[in-house]
Amino acid sequence: MSRQLCFISHATQGGKRVSFREGRLGRKMIKEAAEYTSSIHFDNEIYRETILINAVHLKMLSKLGYLSKEDLKKSLEILKELLTNPISLDDPFLEDIHIVIEEYLSRKVPAAGLNLALGKSRNDAVSTAIRMHVKNKIVELVDEGTKLAEALLRKGSEEVFTVFPVYTHMQVAAPATFGFIMTSYASRLLSALESLTQAYISADHCPLGAVAACGSSIKLDREWMASQLGFSYVLENSLEASSTRDFLIDVLSSLIKLTLPISDLSEELVIYSSKEYGLVDFPEEFSSTSSIMPHKKNPVVAEIGRTKLAEISSEFLRIIMILQRKMSGYVLDLQQVTPSVWRAINHALNTLRIFIELIPRIKVNHERAYELCGPPAGITELANILTTKYGIPYRTAHKICGEISLLIINNKLSDNELEQILKKTGININLTTKEVLSILEPRLVVNSYKTLGSANPYEVSRMVSQIQEQIEELKSWVDARRESLTNIENEIFENY
Ligand code: ARG
Repeated sequence: MSRQLCFISHATQGGKRVSFREGRLGRKMIKEAAEYTSSIHFDNEIYRETILINAVHLKMLSKLGYLSKEDLKKSLEILKELLTNPISLDDPFLEDIHIVIEEYLSRKVPAAGLNLALGKSRNDAVSTAIRMHVKNKIVELVDEGTKLAEALLRKGSEEVFTVFPVYTHMQVAAPATFGFIMTSYASRLLSALESLTQAYISADHCPLGAVAACGSSIKLDREWMASQLGFSYVLENSLEASSTRDFLIDVLSSLIKLTLPISDLSEELVIYSSKEYGLVDFPEEFSSTSSIMPHKKNPVVAEIGRTKLAEISSEFLRIIMILQRKMSGYVLDLQQVTPSVWRAINHALNTLRIFIELIPRIKVNHERAYELCGPPAGITELANILTTKYGIPYRTAHKICGEISLLIINNKLSDNELEQILKKTGININLTTKEVLSILEPRLVVNSYKTLGSANPYEVSRMVSQIQEQIEELKSWVDARRESLTNIENEIFENY
């Protein structure tokens, strides 16, 4: 108790705000300069986290004997109240949220507010707040991401037998199923969600206690503060902790990995829903029409969906450009990174949410899809048969099948033509048009696939169950993180 600081008499001077500028700087910033350098207009994202950080810091000061239990109790009540009744952040002269809270608390509990900066800098506090918020957002992203993966899997199961073409080079490559395509997107999404859980680990290192750059002579228990704030690790090196945002590279690259398949899927839906392809019916609730051309149904949600990746990538690039070429200690440039993070995360979240609604409403045109899978689409399998059954070298079989394809495309396939192709190549087998066409029947082709991960409906069903199991694991991950992140508030405010 003897070390307890007593600034109470200096707290306010006749009710006037005491600015900490006044020691070093004689004049106020001009309004334009204040606005130009302030982060207050995007600090609302880290409002809750900043309050929790201040609460934990005060608890730390109290544990060290620098703040009485009574003042701590009062401060915690005030900070808790600020969570439900936020203070306004619209004064253009305010530098940032940290100052707002410090000034507010200084007026209410001077012994606490005026000591908030003892052993705490905005540098370590803001870095901690961003990490906490990012962690929450990652949990939200993984939660929504699993829902989208499930929607894709459900669609995949419903359409597991729906014959559908797969394109390479935008030319029909082979018959597959719509279920197979949906499952491929679910699988890619799953991999992105796993990357997000890795990015969560990067974010889960607590910078608090690094102070401005080099640590402090105040004996802060960094491990205790980190665990109070729900972190699993301390980000030890104080210079790194106070002055870097490297972990955001993991977060942003995971967001790119997450939205890349959605961008591809969007592109595919835009193309499939054109009249020329006629492969899917894009839902009306997600389409617009033209203000001049009355016949139009435009798949606008997919158009925006495919471009979100570009928007996120540009935020990523913006972040890297700001982060590069800085000296090791904090610079205010770092502040300018933060809004990009929230924008990128929001683009990804909004995209996930809209696609969760869109996917179940996609209708496949089964007849058209079957038609596009017709001969010569599955002819690679005929070439396989010529090699495996008749011992014809694959290169020869490929050539024969190329010629047969041409006949099919030109509508000239006949027993006679087939016989001539085989004779010319010196192959002594009997192959009829009927046999060729029956081998190329799209359903038979799809069912003939035998490799792991193929489009064979049984293989697709197996993959659906496997991905579903992995999704269940991710859901438990989400639940566990949610629980621990919501518990921190109780722990901070109720247990001191
Ligand atoms: N508002 C800043 C940010 O968002 C934190 C303040 C750091 N300011 C300072 N002078 N060290 O990064």
